[in-house]
Amino acid sequence: MTKPHILQVGSYPEWDQGPLDAAFHMHRWWEAADPSVLLAEVGPHVRGIATRGDLGASESMIAACPNLEIIAVYGVGYDAVHMPSCRARGIRVTNTPDVLTEDVADIAVAMLLALVRRVGPAEHWVRSGSWAAQGMFPLTRRVSGSRAGILGLGRIGTAIGRRLQGFGLEIAYSARAPKPEGEAAGWAYVPDPVALAEWSNHLIVALAATPETRHIVGSRVLEALGPEGTVINISRAANVDEAALLDALEGGRLGGAALDVFEGEPILNPRFLSAPNLLLQPHHGSGTIDTRKAMGQLMRDNLTAHFAGHPLLTPVP
Ligand code: 8YV
Repeated sequence: MTKPHILQVGSYPEWDQGPLDAAFHMHRWWEAADPSVLLAEVGPHVRGIATRGDLGASESMIAACPNLEIIAVYGVGYDAVHMPSCRARGIRVTNTPDVLTEDVADIAVAMLLALVRRVGPAEHWVRSGSWAAQGMFPLTRRVSGSRAGILGLGRIGTAIGRRLQGFGLEIAYSARAPKPEGEAAGWAYVPDPVALAEWSNHLIVALAATPETRHIVGSRVLEALGPEGTVINISRAANVDEAALLDALEGGRLGGAALDVFEGEPILNPRFLSAPNLLLQPHHGSGTIDTRKAMGQLMRDNLTAHFAGHPLLTPVP
């Protein structure tokens, strides 16, 4: 039996690459000297695309694969997949929800604590000799007892809320509809992002990125947070207006920000490297061996199920 041809958009750990190479005829798009030449050659054979949340699949890539049946995303976010093309052509799309929820929630909380308690600068204080030379590190602010607003209460937002409740924070959230059931029942529903920011000391962005959420954290939200407020973004860069955020930090109009995602990542706007009160992370919310193994398995299981004619495990709606 001939193996289905799969276009692979980016790299995976070797524990995924081996099984992918064994089961499918993989074409490594990101390594091609000229990706458009590769696409012109193999596009007509390609029945599947294996991609990552950060890479997706562009309109032109999809168009170059006229026999494409499925796009399997290694990641929960599929905003970088050109969904209108998929819907128009009946191309199935899968992602990897649930398996990464707890790790992404962990990093969000770690970022909030590290930002507010200034863990990075405090370590630098020790290593640079400032502790011995200048004495105690400048005092920070208490996290427990403060107010966390969660923008987007899906699986990840809920897991963040659960953790922060354990740290003694008050929780409110914004979502398309109130979630009166389960753990969110005790959290305040504040649908308007500006009102949520006004209420919050810390705003945690956990929204799936859509055209409607683009720059939802913009100058009005940042102004509502104010000079003591912080933004933590573990979702997608497009949810935050980066220029407005940098202006607010540089102007002292926002207390701080902790970001795991950036426009054009891994290349960052150089202003991020010098703006004050910023904690920067390399888009690794799901980046544990445990979770990445589970994501790879789920992505491969979706591909296998599709080509065996079985129901997909985690199709996107
Ligand atoms: C991964 C992600 O960072 O789940 C997502 O949407 O962005 C991530 O989990 C990514 O897919 C790995 O490169």
